[in-house]
Amino acid sequence: MNVSEPTKQVSLPREFPGVHYYGEDEEAAALRVIRQRSPFRYYGANFLAEADSLEKEYAARLGRRYAQAVSSCTSGLAAAMAAFRVGPGQEVLVPGFFWVSTVAAIVRAGAVPVLVEIDESFTMDPEDLERKITPSSKLILPVHMCGVPSDMPAIMAIARRRGIAVLEDCAQANGAMLHGKPVGTFGDLAVFSFQMNKNITAGEGGIIVTDDETLYLRANAAHDLGVPWSGGLPVQDSPHAMWGAGARMNEIAAAIIRVQLRKLDAITAHMRASKYRIREALSDLPGLQWRRIKDREGDSGPFIVAMFATPEAAGRFAREASARGLTCTHLPDYGLHVYCNVKALIEKRSNSADGFPWTHPANAALVRDYRRGALPKTDELLARSVVCPVPSNLTPSQENEYTAVFREAHGAAGIGRLIVT
Ligand SMILES: Cc1ncc(COP(=O)(O)O)c(C=O)c1O
Repeated sequence: MNVSEPTKQVSLPREFPGVHYYGEDEEAAALRVIRQRSPFRYYGANFLAEADSLEKEYAARLGRRYAQAVSSCTSGLAAAMAAFRVGPGQEVLVPGFFWVSTVAAIVRAGAVPVLVEIDESFTMDPEDLERKITPSSKLILPVHMCGVPSDMPAIMAIARRRGIAVLEDCAQANGAMLHGKPVGTFGDLAVFSFQMNKNITAGEGGIIVTDDETLYLRANAAHDLGVPWSGGLPVQDSPHAMWGAGARMNEIAAAIIRVQLRKLDAITAHMRASKYRIREALSDLPGLQWRRIKDREGDSGPFIVAMFATPEAAGRFAREASARGLTCTHLPDYGLHVYCNVKALIEKRSNSADGFPWTHPANAALVRDYRRGALPKTDELLARSVVCPVPSNLTPSQENEYTAVFREAHGAAGIGRLIVT
């Protein structure tokens, strides 16, 4: 279908929440490390221990005992798999709406991903989670997608009742909460991202948090040398000795993230306020429904997700909005966020010639079909939904422009007409 001629066009800031808040303090933090010529996190000539401080500040903010800075959330997820001793013969339950890194960590650890449906919250459906648990279930991996927490009380109740550990993927929801309890404080361990699209950023980076000493020491060992660091030295005879990934955070990143962490609540508050003002201004539009959000106050705010009556309506809306300059994606086209778009998953690809882990004898009875159709409810929800980022520095007039273009795209897509008649 052709896109109608736009009368309105917006030019909004890009959706990189943290970088819009970069200023002299981030600059000073990076310079401090450079001037001291001490960019390595575990020792240096004029050692600043920025990553060490970041870990303490992060753990304190969340009220968790341990934090381990890492080079990315992807590497943090991999270290988490080693911390939990995930491997062949085990299943990890993960929603079908994720980022490829989430499922990559499972497969690279040698375990079998078990896809769980999402519900209208666009996060893991606890009812389907319960249905998908088997005696081989080792770990539950909820993903707080698009800024909003998963239903952690329900997920934790199931996990505790069934005796299964929980790893929270908080990459997209730094600063989010559920009725005052922050994401990253529900599960046994959680991982955050500081990549550039995230709520705070140093371009790259991640952090693991947990209250469990063994999980922490194993994650510490796995993220770098295979043995944990202590007091600037590797503990060579550690009982936790294994194989490491060399995924340390550097001091410049740590120094920048420490500054950004102090701005996190202001950044999420700005996005959240814009998001709900925009939604409110559009509340009269027929034929669309917002994603279900249990606790608006805890939404970290970076995305609007809207559901339409049909896949065709959602696709038309996304095209009309994009033509007007509003970043808007029809969710089946959301790349590596959607299980059936991940070629390596649907084709059961391997990094090694032997087909590991799909061909591992311990996985023979566990391997599933991951092609489209594996999650009918998720397929249906994504097909009739769109996602639009909410930039972190919208001015009141930009919010009005956003709203006007959204409204015009809705009209041009014939949504009202379609639903009403
Ligand atoms: C849900 C989710 N998990 C994990 C990651 C990986 O984060 P990183 O880019 O820091 O490795 C991302 C990043 O996009 C993500 O969105």
